[in-house]
Amino acid sequence: MKSLIDILDFTVEEIDELLVVANDIIANPKKYSEMCHGKKLATLFFEPSTRTRLSFEAAMYELGGNVLGFSEAGSSSSAKGESVADTAKMISCYADIIAMRHPKEGAPLVAAQNASIPVINAGDGGHNHPTQTLTDLLTINREKGRFENLKIGFCGDLKFGRTVHSLINAMSRYEGNTIYLISPTELKLPDYVKNDVLIKKNIKYVETQSLDEVMPELDILYMTRVQRERFFNEEEYLRLKDRYILVPEKLENAKEDLIIMHPLPRVNEISVKVDEDNRACYFRQALYGKYIRMALILKLLKEAGTI
Ligand code: NCD
Repeated sequence: MKSLIDILDFTVEEIDELLVVANDIIANPKKYSEMCHGKKLATLFFEPSTRTRLSFEAAMYELGGNVLGFSEAGSSSSAKGESVADTAKMISCYADIIAMRHPKEGAPLVAAQNASIPVINAGDGGHNHPTQTLTDLLTINREKGRFENLKIGFCGDLKFGRTVHSLINAMSRYEGNTIYLISPTELKLPDYVKNDVLIKKNIKYVETQSLDEVMPELDILYMTRVQRERFFNEEEYLRLKDRYILVPEKLENAKEDLIIMHPLPRVNEISVKVDEDNRACYFRQALYGKYIRMALILKLLKEAGTI
């Protein structure tokens, strides 16, 4: 059963096909509006989410399907001690596809190994977030028109930011990109991502604490929120949370065709004044998230023989 747990579960060709479908959905939404008629998506969210859960729900509704599920662990049987494996087996009786978010790294993989329907990882702890990555790829595809020869700056919490880990993995498969890792020392990219992806695949990368220094180089600036919920120590969070705040003045030296991305939610790291700059594309990015999830649901349900 084909699932999506890690972005590398899909080949570059499969990602290209998804982008083609997502772009076609944007151009011809009517064509897709009944494709999942009578099918059910279960959203199993053991950790809070607004955007990801609602974009999955909107995606399924726009395909003509239905949605069931829960949005916090407390309202599910896991509060009674049910294992992820059992939840996955049980939900397979009621739905056609699962989108799961879980605070434990690896939980969606366990679900996929036990479910008889496709499972989509909608974020597992500080680990991976492949559907945000698909969203980011559709954004780059539509806004920059290419995945090669880009200078991409990741700024903020590169340690706990799972969207960063997944996107670095995805971009490592395209030629000629340079990755700028902009963070305080305490929030540096984990060694396992650096060693297994950047160094192993010989990707050019620069580590710095200064956003200003690298700003003029960048084609893409990917801002992130400091992930409060993953800190052991609130004081440390308070000390680091406002280290980078993007304000219009900081963009004075930036390229005219820079794009500013953010997976959202934003806290303080981008001033609302930046929203008026047409290089800010984070709200368009959120919209693209719905379309790529529609394409993903279609792909997995087709491969499962459900539609
Ligand atoms: C991200 C996440 O959940 O990791 N949000 C999202 O999916 N849009 C980023 C974040 O929470 O900071």
